[in-house]
Amino acid sequence: MSIQYNERDKTFTLHTKTSTYQMVVESHRYLLHCYYGDRIEGQNLSFLIQPQDRGFAANPPDAEGDRTLSVDTLPQEYSTFGVGDFRESCLDVRNADGSVAADLRYSEHRIYKGKKALAGLPASYGDPEQVDTLEIDLEDAVSGVCVTLQYSVFEEYDILARAARVSNQGAHTLMLDRALSMCLDDPLPVQKDVITFYGRHMGERNLERTALRHGKIRVESARGASSPHHNPFVILCDAGATETSGACCAFSLVYSGSFMAQVEVDQTDSSRFVMGIDPQTFSWELKAGEAFQAPEVLICYSTNGLAEMSNKLHRFQLRHLVRGPYKTKRCPVLVNNWEATYFDFDTEKLLALAEAAKEVGIEMLVLDDGWFGRRNSDTTSLGDWFANTEKLKGGLGCLGRRLRGMGLEFGLWFEPEMVSPASLLMDEHPAWCLKMPGRANATSRSQCVLNMGLAAVQDYLFDCMAKIIREADLAYIKWDMNRSITNAYSDELPAHRQGEVWHRYILGVYALLERLVQAFPELLIESCASGGGRYDAGMLYYSPQVWASDNTDAIDRLAIQYGNSFGFAMKTMGSHVSVCPNHQTGRTTPLTTRGLVAMAGSFGYEMDLTRLDAQEKRQIKRQIAQFKEQWAIHQLGEYHRLTDPRKNHWFAAWQVVSEDRCISLVTIVVREPIANPPVLYVKLRGLEPTGVYTDEQGGRYTGAALMSAGLVLPPMRGDYPSVQVQLRHI
Ligand code: DGJ
Repeated sequence: MSIQYNERDKTFTLHTKTSTYQMVVESHRYLLHCYYGDRIEGQNLSFLIQPQDRGFAANPPDAEGDRTLSVDTLPQEYSTFGVGDFRESCLDVRNADGSVAADLRYSEHRIYKGKKALAGLPASYGDPEQVDTLEIDLEDAVSGVCVTLQYSVFEEYDILARAARVSNQGAHTLMLDRALSMCLDDPLPVQKDVITFYGRHMGERNLERTALRHGKIRVESARGASSPHHNPFVILCDAGATETSGACCAFSLVYSGSFMAQVEVDQTDSSRFVMGIDPQTFSWELKAGEAFQAPEVLICYSTNGLAEMSNKLHRFQLRHLVRGPYKTKRCPVLVNNWEATYFDFDTEKLLALAEAAKEVGIEMLVLDDGWFGRRNSDTTSLGDWFANTEKLKGGLGCLGRRLRGMGLEFGLWFEPEMVSPASLLMDEHPAWCLKMPGRANATSRSQCVLNMGLAAVQDYLFDCMAKIIREADLAYIKWDMNRSITNAYSDELPAHRQGEVWHRYILGVYALLERLVQAFPELLIESCASGGGRYDAGMLYYSPQVWASDNTDAIDRLAIQYGNSFGFAMKTMGSHVSVCPNHQTGRTTPLTTRGLVAMAGSFGYEMDLTRLDAQEKRQIKRQIAQFKEQWAIHQLGEYHRLTDPRKNHWFAAWQVVSEDRCISLVTIVVREPIANPPVLYVKLRGLEPTGVYTDEQGGRYTGAALMSAGLVLPPMRGDYPSVQVQLRHI
């Protein structure tokens, strides 16, 4: 059992393979955090907490004159506002009398094998032999609020899954003004960095690393989606941590709505990390007897640097978060018609594309936006989920049959959460749209947002989608979401409960996704939000694949894929080869480079294959054959970032090591050609130091030579050349 409770010391100790997490119930029943770091066995670590009179700190009424007892200076396991802790709060409870306070004290706990699902929310899962769970109840005697802290330990992966459930065991209705998922206080002075991932549409997931400083460093989204702007994935690491050394801790919120993550350094140089639903767009009424479940955070610990941390997370996600057949099975190689045709297509054009696709070894045609209603541009018809038979003669069923007749699977685009003002759905159900009284809606991409919290909306969408999935026998859907939420208001809720609309929205999205997953267990769902605008651990529970960016430029993708690789398994990252000049940047890159970059993720094409010349056709055929042969190494293997795009502008390099460790694939892409260049070399990782490796040209190297001296390459000239080197352990 990875969880121990020591009755004498009143300590809870959670062990993973290489880490230890310990809490203590102190004499006034506060639950304090002692330690989270490298594994330490058989030790009461509460000596790390040194209560001191910090001067004018608030002491609880039962402190009996002890000025060292203060919730403001002791490391809390779950912080609250109102009774003396002035650092960031996890829980703001507005009581029936208007006071905002909760004073949480330990009441009881339970330890069991396995892990329960979180009602209505995505969450990691595991069998009783894979995961243990601890639940600790903290109670506020005055309001009757009980917070159940949930800790699940996936020992083998060095992963803790944390969440919190807030229940009202009192007699009065309460309002939660915030209910975050977790708090992690470090009792010792910190010397750490925080790594976050900022971005924008078509420029997602840029890594930013900052030394912690006094005050607060915060990333958040109040857009109703996790967003391309900031990602609910944050790393805290030793100041000196590198890819291969130093303690690192990743926090991945299993949630796709508005969020916040913040690290704060206080007066005594200790840190507090909190994460959860964005408080700005949240409040929740909790009647007597009701409970609120805050989403889960996956916390991954590594003592040996960032690469080890990412690889643990990657392996974990594919086994304990992603569901369905595609978690470890190869997704079909697809061609998506978006960049090939945009809105301008008909059945004949699609069949021609399909024919060209089949010829090169592609396995599925994905019909993107524009197949429904009167959608010939992005200004109309969202919500009218029936085929445009002017474009698609015979409808989707007929197209599906013809594709399958050619030996291809059929995939289809939806943007279920949206409605066009110019649509039949809007005419019929104006009340289904989020809209504030007396205020005209802000549109974005000429579209409005459905109130996904309404059961009627979910039912309508499920019925439309299920009908089409059956009729067209779809193997795949692309679930797009192309705007941030504004005008969040629901006619169904009274004024004082409007703060629930945002979270109810995402619960509605999850409910619909869950119905689809249950009804169509074989269906592959690729999530997309104008590219990587909702690439988070929450969506991975429903969709094994996420379209990483609307920017398909291979060189820009290097940085986007680098950023994503920290927190997300490469298999989950939708990545396509597109045409040149690239539609987003106008850049021209070699087809080889586009192929090798796309192979780092879930591989596919997004171009008009009917326009290929014979040489390109041959090359694409080879690329697809290569991917089919290598996919398991790229997608299930160990991933190493060999260069950092912020530091190395010359070239980018990454390496994947097969699960049996016999094959390493090293990819190098030159970003900027250099005249009279220095020797191009890169140090490899993950090899057996004494093992012997051969490359395809017959070169022989020891693992030590490749890792300590490096792999040396001949000069590469021209615009964006690239190479893949295959090393085989003999
Ligand atoms: C945004 C997506 O990211 C694109 O791939 C494409 O599906 C368009 N939406 C279609 O409107």
